[in-house]
Amino acid sequence: MDFLETLRDIVVLVHLVGFAILFGSWAVEAAAKRYQATPLMNAGLGLAFLAGLVLSAPWGLGDGELNYMKIGIKLVVLVIIGALIGISTSRAKKGSPVPPAFFWLIGALTLLNAGLAVIW
Ligand code: HEM
Repeated sequence: MDFLETLRDIVVLVHLVGFAILFGSWAVEAAAKRYQATPLMNAGLGLAFLAGLVLSAPWGLGDGELNYMKIGIKLVVLVIIGALIGISTSRAKKGSPVPPAFFWLIGALTLLNAGLAVIW
């Protein structure tokens, strides 16, 4: 097993931990019927973002060839998720929570990104 390959596997693992934190914390809120974003979702998103960037840089960590179309779309989706989380948490702090549609969109877009990663 060569060193770069193992390093890449570790970064993929960190990326997946970020996804797990984001989607897991979202699922907890859904089950509790709170339908609002939490700071933990942001932490998961940030971790997935950083590891995703490392995986996308053309320094030989890539899985053979990199699909920049897919990466670009995942990046745009991630920015939208980040904006939704940001708006939701700041509005909740001000005492005027966003409608549950924001919350459902965060979960749907998170699944979309995971789906893009796995299926495309
Ligand atoms: C909410 C945001 C994200 C989620 C849920 C997500 C999910 C995933 C998952 C589940 C995998 C594993 C796929 C596999 O091993 O077959 C993966 C791999 C990967 N992700 Fe993400 N990701 C997100 C954001 C990003 C971003 C922003 C980037 C780049 C800027 C990125 C780049 C990558 C790359 C390069 C891989 C390696 C495998 C591949 O090429 O598909 N991801 N992602």
